Amino acid sequence: MSFDLIVKGGTLPDGEQADIAISGDRIAAVEYGIAAEAGRVVDASGCLVSPPFVDPHFHMDATLSYGIPRINASGTLLEGIALWGELKPLLTHEAVKERALRYCDWAVSMGLLAIRTHVDVCDDRLLAVEALLEVKKEIAPHIDLQLVAFPQDGYFRDPTAKENTIRALDMGVEVVGGIPHFERTMEDGRRSVTELCEIAAERGLMVDLHCDETDDPLSRHVEQLACETQRLGLHGRVNGSHLTSMHSMDNYYVSKLLPLMAEAEVSAIPNPLINIVLQGRHDTYPKRRGMTRVPEMLKAGIRVGFGQDCVLDPWYSLGTADMLDVAFMGLHVAQMTSPRDMRRCFDMVTKESAAIMGLEGYGLEPGCKASLVVLDAASPVEAIRLRAERLCVVAKGKVVAERPRRDTALSLPGRPGSVNRRHTL
Ligand code: FE2
Repeated sequence: MSFDLIVKGGTLPDGEQADIAISGDRIAAVEYGIAAEAGRVVDASGCLVSPPFVDPHFHMDATLSYGIPRINASGTLLEGIALWGELKPLLTHEAVKERALRYCDWAVSMGLLAIRTHVDVCDDRLLAVEALLEVKKEIAPHIDLQLVAFPQDGYFRDPTAKENTIRALDMGVEVVGGIPHFERTMEDGRRSVTELCEIAAERGLMVDLHCDETDDPLSRHVEQLACETQRLGLHGRVNGSHLTSMHSMDNYYVSKLLPLMAEAEVSAIPNPLINIVLQGRHDTYPKRRGMTRVPEMLKAGIRVGFGQDCVLDPWYSLGTADMLDVAFMGLHVAQMTSPRDMRRCFDMVTKESAAIMGLEGYGLEPGCKASLVVLDAASPVEAIRLRAERLCVVAKGKVVAERPRRDTALSLPGRPGSVNRRHTL
């Protein structure tokens, strides 16, 4: 028997050692000590072999636009939205596509092979939708890209958002988005949640709303989202992104809300880097972190995935497509420091986010898509600690990125021996 590729000697996220044999674009076998021929063998000894990183919340139409036409001076969410409003009329199909493809190269190099991106439909030209549908097709051999129709200026607040959301879905965008807290009134926000969920139910689609991305403890659209999910039988297909208001909500109310979300199987996507930067901007001290209640959600049985949201755009002036940065920040802000919780932070940028996106064939079992990443770390927790180097990235059976293993041993003048950052328990 022979395979196209064998990734040999690696440690899987569960701590087991196994070789991974690949035929075509699928995993053929996962066993210790596979002794078959292969077109190519990748040596992963001493390394973590993980399914690819997954970013369940991103804005690919805005990425890498930092500084165009100006930077966000206050650093707030609202100035970011205003700045995006200035940039939108200047967008061209070519520029959106070029920036998105450039970002996809970064993503591939970081082992980030599945991305859910919201795309703003509040531009009657829908040129970003067209451009990202083309990008989705072009990068399909490497990245699974899922698009969300996102009426960013408000489903009711923007005069043509409603019509454009439907147009985008007709063009092939597969998830229904929204932004209830940005509507003019709480009541408009509530109605937008109802209508958007009804559209998803009619079309058999998933829902992912920017929901309650505010410090307002009374912004409670997630309650409506859970309620509509129950009413329309959308269990397991609905996600609330951000949910930052839950950080500020009354504790008694949250004790009622969490079971409602769990019952409706509404998942949550906090975006730690952005939440910690944008929330609490109106506070003096103490200053709220703003990130939603991740450990409490996990305890209640709610699925949680960490998203990146932004890289070099009107809302965020940093970012490198590294989901380990996201897990690192999420771990700190949520104070998830036990070994079990740190490990869960790794899952939230891999398999939990894959489950939220409903990705087919994700994982490291025979029959799964042959996509994986070899990390210069011994375990998921060490990968987070080191933001470990991606030594080899395999996408659908092909090696698409490689880095030589660096000698991490560093000599210090005047000291015997060397320094190595690896530390295995
Ligand atoms: Fe977002």
